[in-house]
Amino acid sequence: MSKLWGGRFTKKTDQLVEEYTASIMFDKEMAVEDIQGSLAHVTMLGKCGILPLDDVEQIKDGLHRVRNKIDRGEIEFTISDEDIHMNIEKTLIDDIGPVGGKLHTGRSRNDQVATDMHLYLRKRVVEFVGMLQKLQEALVEQAKANLDTIVPGYTHLQRAQPILFAHHMMAYVSMFQRDVERLQDSYKRINVLPLGAGALAGTTFAIDRHFVAQQLGFDRVYENSLDAVSDRDFIIEFLSNASMIMMHLSRLSEELILWSSTEFAFVELDDAFCTGSSIMPQKKNPDVPELVRGKTGRVYGNLMGLLTVLKSLPLAYNKDMQEDKEGMFDTVRTLQGALQLFAPMIATMKVNRDRMRQAVSQDFSNATDIADYLASKGIPFRQAHEIIGKLVLYSIQNQKYLLDLSVEEFQQFSKLFDENIYSVLQPENVVNARNVYGGTATNQVSDAIARASGVVEETARWVDEYLAKSK
Ligand code: ARG
Repeated sequence: MSKLWGGRFTKKTDQLVEEYTASIMFDKEMAVEDIQGSLAHVTMLGKCGILPLDDVEQIKDGLHRVRNKIDRGEIEFTISDEDIHMNIEKTLIDDIGPVGGKLHTGRSRNDQVATDMHLYLRKRVVEFVGMLQKLQEALVEQAKANLDTIVPGYTHLQRAQPILFAHHMMAYVSMFQRDVERLQDSYKRINVLPLGAGALAGTTFAIDRHFVAQQLGFDRVYENSLDAVSDRDFIIEFLSNASMIMMHLSRLSEELILWSSTEFAFVELDDAFCTGSSIMPQKKNPDVPELVRGKTGRVYGNLMGLLTVLKSLPLAYNKDMQEDKEGMFDTVRTLQGALQLFAPMIATMKVNRDRMRQAVSQDFSNATDIADYLASKGIPFRQAHEIIGKLVLYSIQNQKYLLDLSVEEFQQFSKLFDENIYSVLQPENVVNARNVYGGTATNQVSDAIARASGVVEETARWVDEYLAKSK
C-alpha cells in the first residue's frame, strides 16, 4: 500500500522530502502511548455505536499484536510511513486487513500526537518526582550522619559563619522539594485529554471524549479543540522545570567539585563515581558532577528551542510543532542520567569532618558572634561591628585567630569582654547560638530533618499512587 494520505497525489514524494519530514526516527519512543491511545479511542467508537463491535474487537486484537511485535523488536519502522502514528496504523492494516482503516475514524494525527505526548510526559513527570525523592532521601541521610559536623559557611565564596554540614545538605533538600512540588503541580496541566479535537475543529462523529479520558486516566478533556491540538505549554513547562532541576544539580555539582579538590578536601566521592586521567596517574576526577554541570546547558537549550518554535505559530497545528519532540526526549534522557547517578553518589560520599573542623578553627568565621556579644551588652551593633573589625585586623597583623587572643588583648578593644568570650567563640557554640527557626543550631536542624523526612515520605506515597494512575 502507498501513503495513507496518498489519494490526492499524482506523484511520489521526493526522497529527500520524505527524509526531511519524517519523525519516526525519534517519535518511535511513543509507540506504547500511541497504541494505548488507539485502544481507548476504538473502544469508545464501539461504545458509541460508531463502529460495529466486531470491527472494534478485530482492531483491538490487531493493536495488541502490534504492541507485542514492537516489544519483541519485530517491527521495522520506515520513514516512508513518516511517523509513529502512521507506522503503527500501517502495520495494523497489514495485519488485519482493510478493517484496520476504521481505527482513524473521528480522529486526526493532530489530536493523536498531542494525546501521545500527554501520556508520555505524565509518566516521566511521576518518575522524576520519584527520582528527586530518592535524592532527597540520600541528602537527608547525609544530614542525619553529620548533625555534629561543623563546616565553614560561605558568602562570596569567603568563609562567613560556621554551620552544620547537615544544614548545608538540608538546603538542597528544600531546593529539590520546590522542584518536586512544581512537577506535581504541572501534572494537572499534563493530565488533560486532547483527543476528540480532530484536526482542529472537533469531529462529525458523535464521540464521547469523557469516556476516552476516563479510560486513559485523564482528569479532564481540553475545553477548546483548537487549543487542544496546538497547545505545547505542558512540554515547555516540563522543559522549564527540568531546567530548574538541572540548575540545582549544577550548583550542587559545583560544590562537590570544589569540595573534592585538594584545596578544600571536604568530601571524597566514591571511586565508582569518578574516573582517572590517561596521563596523570594520581588523578581522580569528579566527572559525574562536571558532566551534570555541563549538560545543564543542553537542557536550557531545549527550553529555549521550543519556546522559539512556538513563538509566532498561528493556530492550530503546524508542522513546526513536530520539533517539540527531540528536545523533550533529550531532556528526559539527560535528567534521567543525572538523577539516577546523583542519589547513590551523595549516599556514598565520604565526609571529611576533621578537615572541615580544621577549616572552621582556622578562620574568623566566629567574628559575628563577638560583635553580637558586645551588642547584647548594650553597644549599638554598628559600633560593635567597627570594634570587631579592628580586632580582626589586629589578629591578622599578629598572626592569631580570635581564640588565640588573651583576655587583656580583647579588653584593649572593649572593657566589656570577659573570660566567657572563649566559650562564645567555640564553633559548636557559634552554631548552636543560631537557634532560630530555619537556622543552623543543632536542635533546629534536627527538627528540620524530622519535618523533611515526613514530607519526603509523603512524596513517596504520591509517587506510588500516581505511578498506578499514569500507566
Ligand atoms: N509527526 C507529526 C508531529 O509530530 C504528527 C502530526 C502530523 N500532523 C499533520 N497534520 N501532518 O507533529
